[in-house]
Amino acid sequence: MIKFLKDVDIKDKRVIVRVDYNVPIKDGEILSTKKIDDSFKTLDYLIENNCKIILLTHFGRVKTEEDKLTNTIKPVFEYIKSLNKYNILYSSEAMGPMLDVMVKNLLPRQIILAENTRFLDLNGKLESSCDVQLSMYWAHLAEYYIDDAFGSMHRNHASITGIPKYLPSAVGFLVEKELKNLNCLVNDIEKPFVVVMGGAKLDDKIELIYSLAERADYILLGGGIANTFLKIAGFDIGSSLVSDTALIKAKAILEEFPDKIILPKDVITSPSYSDVKYEHKKLDEIVIDDVIGDIGSGAIENYKRILNSAKTIFVNGTVGIYEQKPFSNGTREILEIVSNTNAKKIVGGGDAGSAVKAFKLEDKMTFISTGGGATLTYIANQTLPGIEAIEESNEKDIC
Ligand code: 3PG
Repeated sequence: MIKFLKDVDIKDKRVIVRVDYNVPIKDGEILSTKKIDDSFKTLDYLIENNCKIILLTHFGRVKTEEDKLTNTIKPVFEYIKSLNKYNILYSSEAMGPMLDVMVKNLLPRQIILAENTRFLDLNGKLESSCDVQLSMYWAHLAEYYIDDAFGSMHRNHASITGIPKYLPSAVGFLVEKELKNLNCLVNDIEKPFVVVMGGAKLDDKIELIYSLAERADYILLGGGIANTFLKIAGFDIGSSLVSDTALIKAKAILEEFPDKIILPKDVITSPSYSDVKYEHKKLDEIVIDDVIGDIGSGAIENYKRILNSAKTIFVNGTVGIYEQKPFSNGTREILEIVSNTNAKKIVGGGDAGSAVKAFKLEDKMTFISTGGGATLTYIANQTLPGIEAIEESNEKDIC
């Protein structure tokens, strides 16, 4: 059974909290602090309970030594420190003697933010392969593990699924709120249930689209994901990005759910994702150099008709490259249409969440999740590796 923070005796304990501070940063500036701010409820509660707190988080992907420069957690530390709300320290290592000493000297109500857990991926993918030694090392630093990193709970990583094998565990308030709000997409979904799915990468999502297609009434596709399905459906998509590894599965999905998978009838193209030269085209007008950057007005009208009949809507990813002016219209219009329906409107985090914010539609949505991939996985599979790890931890009754 999953345990919630309020249900456990956490008073005076030394606690590891896995947070998801993987936030968008440009030139050292945090573009959205939502995931950080949303974790404060759990931190405040632990401080009220006189806990010593060790925060672990990943940040981006770390494949080379150079990646460390752009993926340090320091800007997040500076942000939290600048709020003058917490007594917070920064550890430049996520594992090692310096962190050990800092943890040993940690005072009640004090917080350590450890450096990016994925820095440890450089020594044999210790974090991302859920290394046993690393999981045990982190577990020995604390008496309790709290997972408040909803956006990362789809990852089978040491700081997510490894630590709870060795420590009593619960989920924090951020995760509790996510599970409560996403429940309407998992149990007794009010139909018609319509999913809007976009974004660049299909490889990560293809299996989940299959699971979703079994439960959704319609899946409206846009972005890079739609390209692969358009190719399978026999359209020439010019030089647009296609996921070759997902082609076979995409074909199977189209064959099994031909009436549920809805593709754009028209698109906005350019010869090179250029801001200056772009055209509205029907699918049969696309030429070899064209790349698709957005859905067209015909597709928007078609999607509007379907969205207006929905009782539940889930938005994951954007239907175009909305950050570039010529390709922003589809995403803006679709989000506005969604926001004006009477349906329950749930938005997955990541790019869709950022787009909702950019178009100032946050107040008109039912819930905006902090998770992108995690939300999609949870809705498709009705559980997450991180949730299962907490459940199993409590079944084992570690003490
Ligand atoms: C996210 O931003 O979606 C989460 O932090 C997960 O990040 P990841 O895809 O790098 O694991």
